[in-house]
Amino acid sequence: RHGPGMRVDPLRTVAKEMQHLTGNIRKLLGSGHPSLDRVAKYYTQAEGKHVRPLIVLLMSRATHLCPKAHEHTGHRGPGIDSSISPMGILADVNPSALPLSSPDAREAPEEANPDILPSQRRLAEISELIHTASLLHDDVIDHSVSRRGSPSANLEFGNKMAVLAGDFLLGRASVALARLRNAEVVELLATVIANLVEGEFMQLKNTERDERSPKYSEETLAYYLQKTYLKTASLISKSCRAAALLGGADAHTVDAAYSYGRNLGLAFQLVDDMLDYTRSGKDLGKPAGADLELGLATAPLLFAWKQRPELGALVGRKFEREGDVEKARELVLQSDGVEQTRALAQEYSEKAMAAIAGFPDSDAKDGLMEMAEQTIKRQK
Ligand code: FPP
Ligand code: MG
Ligand code: MG
Repeated sequence: RHGPGMRVDPLRTVAKEMQHLTGNIRKLLGSGHPSLDRVAKYYTQAEGKHVRPLIVLLMSRATHLCPKAHEHTGHRGPGIDSSISPMGILADVNPSALPLSSPDAREAPEEANPDILPSQRRLAEISELIHTASLLHDDVIDHSVSRRGSPSANLEFGNKMAVLAGDFLLGRASVALARLRNAEVVELLATVIANLVEGEFMQLKNTERDERSPKYSEETLAYYLQKTYLKTASLISKSCRAAALLGGADAHTVDAAYSYGRNLGLAFQLVDDMLDYTRSGKDLGKPAGADLELGLATAPLLFAWKQRPELGALVGRKFEREGDVEKARELVLQSDGVEQTRALAQEYSEKAMAAIAGFPDSDAKDGLMEMAEQTIKRQK
């Protein structure tokens, strides 16, 4: 057991599974059409942080020891795992892309963590697929030119290819999801896809011009947080819930897993929005200060706006006038908007940790706690 102050590397706890992640995802994305194949796999080349699969795998292990649901409410019927062919679903998704001799396909079960089910590993891959699909579409919407330190897919292949590639990822994610043979989990992850779009819509609506110079109100922050839940926290929280469900955990544990993911997801996006003000593009691997350029008022600006009502005019015209972006940035950095954002992220991170405090002690639980701490400390 790790005493207080001891650090667990969350990655090490599920290293074996994470090692296979990118390879498995690339197999799920195999297409006979060479150029579709290329653009679909494009964002799997650069090393992403793989935060979502990492959390899914840790949650799977951490809830393994928790109470199990009764037979009739749980989903741990023998049908789930045995319904996946011995070679894994990948073979069925695209037989031509998976050579029979593939070492991944015949991965010895004892090498991997026995407390992570095959269905939970697939779920980790699905969460990353949905995330990557949303990035492909997001970069088109945001006119982004870089992602993870490389040219964005839309810049490299054009908008049409990037949109189609995102759709293709969602299609393959849906096939993989259906093969889990768990209707509740399908419903959760399908809802995530709808939520991502709803969140993006709320954000776009918010970038419409309002010449009447809006006033800051209590609803301003509530709207931002709802948008943030849909855009970021929904995927993490519902994936955590699904991981616990697939493991057959009881309702209390399933809710705790969801609450952890929801609070971690909110903390994660708040930090993201903060880093947009505090870090350079070089550090982030994507343009910094991008939100204001896009007309977006995120948490640091909202807190600043509360103190400096003159920001309302700039918010209303979406920082479009010459010098608006610089002026807004200056006002935000003069205020304690960044600090308040950090404090709110800290609150959510602590709520995430509290949600799983009752889980039995394990390395995976320590890993989840560490993820919550790292989320607010991260610099990129
Ligand atoms: C990144 O936000 C974007 C998202 C988290 C979700 C975007 C959702 C869509 C584009 C809707 C379509 C969804 C699917 C599933 C195809 P950001 O722009 O703030 O982050 P960034 O700085 O990494 O670009
Ligand atoms: Mg973007
Ligand atoms: Mg965006």
